[in-house]
Amino acid sequence: MENIKIPILNMLKDHQGKNPLSLHVPGHKDGDVIHPLTPTGLREAMSWDMTELTGLDDLHNPEEGIMEAEILLSSLYQTDKSYLLVNGSTVGNLAMILGIVQPGDTVLVQKNCHKSIMNGLALASAKPIFLHPELDCEGVEIGLTDSAIEEYLQKYPETKAVILTYPNYYGMGMELEGIIKAAHHLKIPVLVDEAHGAHFAAGDPFPPSALSKGADLVVHSAHKTLPAMTMGSYLHIQGELVSAEQVERYLRILQSSSPSYPIMLSLDLARAYLEGYCEKDKSYLCEQLQSLKSYLSGHKQLAIYESSKADWHDPLKLLICQKGNVSGYELQARLEDVGIYPELSTERFVLLVLPLLKEGQGSFIEKLINRLELMKWDGETKPFSETGSFKESGISNESKHTELALSYEEMEKLNVKRLDLSHSIGEIAAESIIPYPPGIPIIQRGERITDEMVSACFRLMRNKVKIQGGSCLKDGQIEVFA
Ligand SMILES: Cc1ncc(COP(=O)(O)O)c(C=O)c1O
Repeated sequence: MENIKIPILNMLKDHQGKNPLSLHVPGHKDGDVIHPLTPTGLREAMSWDMTELTGLDDLHNPEEGIMEAEILLSSLYQTDKSYLLVNGSTVGNLAMILGIVQPGDTVLVQKNCHKSIMNGLALASAKPIFLHPELDCEGVEIGLTDSAIEEYLQKYPETKAVILTYPNYYGMGMELEGIIKAAHHLKIPVLVDEAHGAHFAAGDPFPPSALSKGADLVVHSAHKTLPAMTMGSYLHIQGELVSAEQVERYLRILQSSSPSYPIMLSLDLARAYLEGYCEKDKSYLCEQLQSLKSYLSGHKQLAIYESSKADWHDPLKLLICQKGNVSGYELQARLEDVGIYPELSTERFVLLVLPLLKEGQGSFIEKLINRLELMKWDGETKPFSETGSFKESGISNESKHTELALSYEEMEKLNVKRLDLSHSIGEIAAESIIPYPPGIPIIQRGERITDEMVSACFRLMRNKVKIQGGSCLKDGQIEVFA
């Protein structure tokens, strides 16, 4: 533990040790000039909120502590180069796509991807072919198979990149090795949004990491499963198929010119945390998770859901459901009544994101079980009225892929009109409709609207799911191209 270096921490401490008087930005002057109601914790955090001063390096041109932190990150993940990101995996996805994909390039994209991938494709003016993921028996969208990728690489020999999301939001994934080999055989790079898998580098019992399977560019939301602050993420590059220069150029363009030092510090600490994650920690975590699973398996009302289709399940993601015909939305409300705040709910499940505990680290799971014990089960439950399975990226059963009906350039030139959602089938969407979380568009700007998409939208609205986009959805309307 003592041998693990944390250069950004040292750099900031050295600066604090100089008893500096701040005559620079930010305006809170190291937490001295603040609103009287500023909470103590925030004031303390402000004393770490510095800027590119002498000795504090520069994220956009790292030569000192930040460079050291990035080298340590790269050596932990065994990459050619790794980067600290202060604008989330969102900026990582945008930069990796813009750095690799040229206007008009054909790219194969897993359809159940986050909106940041869709936005990256639009900014790059790509020609995406969206491949429909494998579904399990509950309609959960998992990942792509080798054979699907092989088939589409043959169909679209002009493909310039393959873009995958691994694992899905629920920590499930399909085997990546065959997919990556098939693409690499044709010298096509594979870009992976592994936002939910920053901890996979710890090895078994976690799923194999995309980097270990040879992915060329990988993005991690360190803040999702490692102890990093919100927006703290990593981007990694390896291999001969991609050049770091273009990706770096886009990181410089897209990231703030005043990157947050608290976020960078937390990223360095999160890397050190993972670096020190040892076998004893894994055994402790597994014990803790097992005690939770044993508790749930004996529970009269709750059950764990594990997909039979996925090759991998991340043990930090637990999907639970209430027995009987009860929706995940209702279960989430019941959990919140006893102070348990899950990541999200779907029609069938609630998703719990569990912590990457180290040996002896408190009684997190015990606290969770104690709160579950407080739940009252005698009240009335509303039977869930929806039938059939819900597909979160609005895919149709009839086809294995979707293409946009218009190129991104064509979309820019067209006028837009509003239509009743129920009359929009067959029209081309001029806006994306995105339930959040998970942030996977159910209707995407430029897609021809299908029956399935419209019913999925109505279904989300009936269940009062939070939706981004859809400027006139509250009036039952959608913007389409005129
Ligand atoms: C799969 C996936 N990719 C990317 C993102 C964007 O990550 P961030 O919030 O770090 O920008 C998310 C966010 O939920 C996500 O689920």
